[in-house]
Formats: sequence, C-alpha cells, structure tokens
Amino acid sequence: MSEEKIYLYPRWVRLWHMMNAVFCLFLIITGVSMQFSNPKVPLIRFDLAVSVHNIFGILLIINYLFFFIANLFTWNGKYYKIEFRGFYQRVMAQFRYYTRGIFKGEHPPFPITKARKFNPLQQFSYVLVMYIMVPVMVISGLGLLYPNVIPTQLWGLSGLHITDLLHILAGFVISLFMFVHVYFCTIGKTPVSNFISMLTGYHEPH
Ligand code: HEM
Repeated sequence: MSEEKIYLYPRWVRLWHMMNAVFCLFLIITGVSMQFSNPKVPLIRFDLAVSVHNIFGILLIINYLFFFIANLFTWNGKYYKIEFRGFYQRVMAQFRYYTRGIFKGEHPPFPITKARKFNPLQQFSYVLVMYIMVPVMVISGLGLLYPNVIPTQLWGLSGLHITDLLHILAGFVISLFMFVHVYFCTIGKTPVSNFISMLTGYHEPH
C-alpha cells in the first residue's frame, strides 16, 4: 500500500523554481554562445546574446531575492539549515546509498518526511548552489554589467579578469549542478514522480 503523499513544495517555491529553471536555461545558452562566439558562425548573434543574457540575468536576480527573503521568513528556510554535527557521516551514508545501496534494493537511509525534505546530499548541493554559487554568479555578473565598480587591480591582477573568471566558474558549476540535479530528480517512486511533485506540491514517498 502506498504511503500518504506529503505536501512539501508550497506554491511560491514551485513558482520560484520554475522561473529559476527557465532563466538559468536562457542564461546558460546565451552564456555558452558568447563564450564560444565566432563572428563567422555565431550560435546566437553576439549582440542579441548579450542583450538576452543581461535581461535574464536581471530577472534571475529579482527571482533570487524573492527566494532568499521568502526562505528567511517561511518554514522552507529551515530545510537549508545544516546541522553540522555528523553531517559528513550522513552525506557519506547517502553517497553510499546512491552508489551501492540503491542497486541492491536497499531502503534510502534518510527517507523524505515533512521534517526532512532533503536528504543530506540534496541539502549540501542546494545550500552550495543557492547560498554560495548563485550569489557569486549574481555579484560577479553585476560587476561585469557595471565594470566601473570593479577595482582595476586585485592582488596585482586585473580586477575585470578575476570577476570574469569567477562568473564563468560559477556558471560552470551551476550548469553542471543542473544536469546532475535533473538526473537525481529521476530517482523517485517512478522516474517522473519528483517532476510531478514540483507541479502539484505533493511528494510521493517510495
Ligand atoms: C530544467 C531544469 C530543472 C529541473 C527539471 C528541476 C527539477 C527539480 C525537481 C523535480 C525538484 C524537486 C525534487 C527535489 O527537491 O529534489 C527540484 C528542487 C529544487 N531545485 Fe531544481 N530543477 C531544475 C533546475 C534547477 C536549477 C537551475 C536550480 C538552481 C540554480 C535548481 C534548484 C533547486 C532547489 C534549490 C530545489 C529545492 C527547492 C525547495 O524545495 O526549497 N533547480 N528541482
């Protein structure tokens, strides 16, 4: 008999997440196009890619501020608070499950409940992306949009180059995260259960 569905994704989380995913897709496509731009065969016309990238960048920042503030004032924020004691062991137990246990039909070591929406690896990756990588991306992106605010020299190197490097690094990590994230989302009761959860708000336990 299947267990009760749990309401885990309130409407604002679903709305934020959907916009975030769409904005990130546009930013990755236009970002990659600018990075590997060749005037003879541009993936997307360079000036068009720049404009679309800037617009979606601003939209992403507004959406991110919404997520950040909502997480400060709603119960959703508590899922992002890491309990550091024993965290490494919990992450390793989850890693062991994903690399071995799951193939032997073992039960997940940290089943999803109303009190624990994320398993330790999800929690680690979501905190890393949402509270470190996206802020680095946003701040460096704003720096590149308004380059006059960037110091000319940082530790003897060009401030603009360092900002650019940070932006590309964060973009790379977030792009990588997105692929891995979508793959891990297929590990649910059925391969599409987690995607349906993000539409209905209800998580289906295994
Ligand atoms: C096509 C792109 C994406 C798809 C299909 C997708 C899918 C999903 C699904 C099904 C969930 C719910 C299951 C779970 O919690 O693991 C989820 C949650 C989440 N995703 Fe994504 N995602 C996408 C892109 C992104 C991106 C680009 C980011 C961050 C930059 C992101 C960050 C998150 C976060 C933080 C959660 C947890 C939200 C919460 O409940 O507080 N996702 N995603």
